[in-house]
Amino acid sequence: MTNFKKLSIGEDSTLFRGNSKEVLGQIPSNSVDMVLTSPPYDDMRTYNNQKAFTFEDFKSIADELARVLRIGGVIIWVVGDAVIKGSESGTSFKQALYFKEIGLNIHDTMIYQKTGFNFPMVNRYQQIFEYMFVFSKGSPKTFNPIQDRANRCAGELLKGSERQKDGTLTKKRVKEISAFGTRTNIWQINTGYMKTTTDQFAYDHPAMFPEKLAEDQIISWSNPGDTIIDPFMGAGTTGKACKKLDRKFIGIELDKSYFEIAKKRVS
Ligand SMILES: C[S@@+](CC[C@H](N)C(=O)[O-])C[C@H]1O[C@@H](n2cnc3c(N)ncnc32)[C@H](O)[C@@H]1O
Repeated sequence: MTNFKKLSIGEDSTLFRGNSKEVLGQIPSNSVDMVLTSPPYDDMRTYNNQKAFTFEDFKSIADELARVLRIGGVIIWVVGDAVIKGSESGTSFKQALYFKEIGLNIHDTMIYQKTGFNFPMVNRYQQIFEYMFVFSKGSPKTFNPIQDRANRCAGELLKGSERQKDGTLTKKRVKEISAFGTRTNIWQINTGYMKTTTDQFAYDHPAMFPEKLAEDQIISWSNPGDTIIDPFMGAGTTGKACKKLDRKFIGIELDKSYFEIAKKRVS
């Protein structure tokens, strides 16, 4: 007897309403190319009075994600830490080290820098980022780097030289520096009302990540036709981006009202 509901939208999107721990158990091993998700962390939100998401809950879902991921697949884990009694919780690091313990690589620790923030802080600088950990099962099989960093020296000639056996230097090649280079692993992304998404109705969800974040991560680490899972689907941001970018999507969400928002966005 299962405690979840399944809904197919078109041929490529499957949404489940239920607990990820249970739903992931139905998914075959080594069948998923990418996981893109943001888990509930440090009880920063209550998500319609859900029970607290414990480290044990995290571990059971992380184990399942590692199992369903294909060799060469990646998990993008978007997470931050609460400040509790004057000290950051460190939950994000504990989770990252757990993924390493169960055999994944911490391929990169990327930063997602927000443009919006809430309260001025009196004894520290404004907290304006979250981690986007990239965990991989072996070496990532796909990397499509986004090239949108304006080169300061665009148009200038890059001159190389090569030392010959007799010690002399000869010019090797001359290349013009292109207008744009590969971006860094710190991404500044617009956040806030109607910037995270222009789907006004979606703001009933309290903690969406921006559509731009989802789209750029999907482009970077997967190809059209790949299968992507979001085990904490929320308002369906990952699913909407998968639809736009021709990836297959599997989303799982516990809460009925968030599930309904996701259904509308993925449709
Ligand atoms: C940080 S939010 C994700 C937001 C999402 N990235 C978006 O852009 O809308 C985390 C979500 O996980 C859901 N959730 C918490 N525990 C869950 C579980 N065990 N299984 C499935 N969903 C869960 C919460 O209801 C919440 O909507």
